[in-house]
Amino acid sequence: MSMGGKLFQSLGIDTYKLRDNSPKNANQTKDNDWPRIESKVTNCTKCSLHKGRNKTVFGDGNRDADWFFVGEAPGKDEDLQGKPFVGRAGRLLTEVIFSIGLSREEVFIANILKCRPPDNRDPKTQEVEQCFAYLERQIDLVKPKIIIAVGRIAAQSLLGSDLPMGKLRGRIHGFGSSKIPTLVIYHPAYLLRSPSQKHKVWEDLQIANDFLKK
Ligand code: URA
Repeated sequence: MSMGGKLFQSLGIDTYKLRDNSPKNANQTKDNDWPRIESKVTNCTKCSLHKGRNKTVFGDGNRDADWFFVGEAPGKDEDLQGKPFVGRAGRLLTEVIFSIGLSREEVFIANILKCRPPDNRDPKTQEVEQCFAYLERQIDLVKPKIIIAVGRIAAQSLLGSDLPMGKLRGRIHGFGSSKIPTLVIYHPAYLLRSPSQKHKVWEDLQIANDFLKK
């Protein structure tokens, strides 16, 4: 500590050091934040969903990814394994990701809710509100080039919209104050029920690919 600092300390006056905003320091902050937010999610009791969960589903993948996929909420398999999109719909999402020349390990995948709603019901507004800050922080840390909102609930929650899927898909939106490019695609669970709609996801992802190449 400097002489001046010692003098202030002896007088009982708090002193502050200017924060080091160098890129190295920024990276340290980024790395340190992941365990902190992960532990907050693991121990979260903000809404009643924590009472029925087996595991929280934090999200996983590349923390420096260009592509950030956001689903709705964990289902039965995800709740048991603590990983997003690992059931039947998840296997189809993996194929969708593969179709754009990427692997699951290259993208980041998370959900709007980190806990499973009972019987896979739709998330309640209050649950989304209470959980949303975790996702925002994850997006903030990953800094993706594009967000893919998977399904209606993810799309409407991210975009603060109540438009139906038909009106949300097919164009690039902006998420948050920094307007991160965001594309909406049909949920793989819907594609499993309506396989004839699969081509629309392929078309929509082409919009994302073309956008990123610009
Ligand atoms: N559906 C989702 O939206 N997210 C998952 O993690 C699994 C199924």
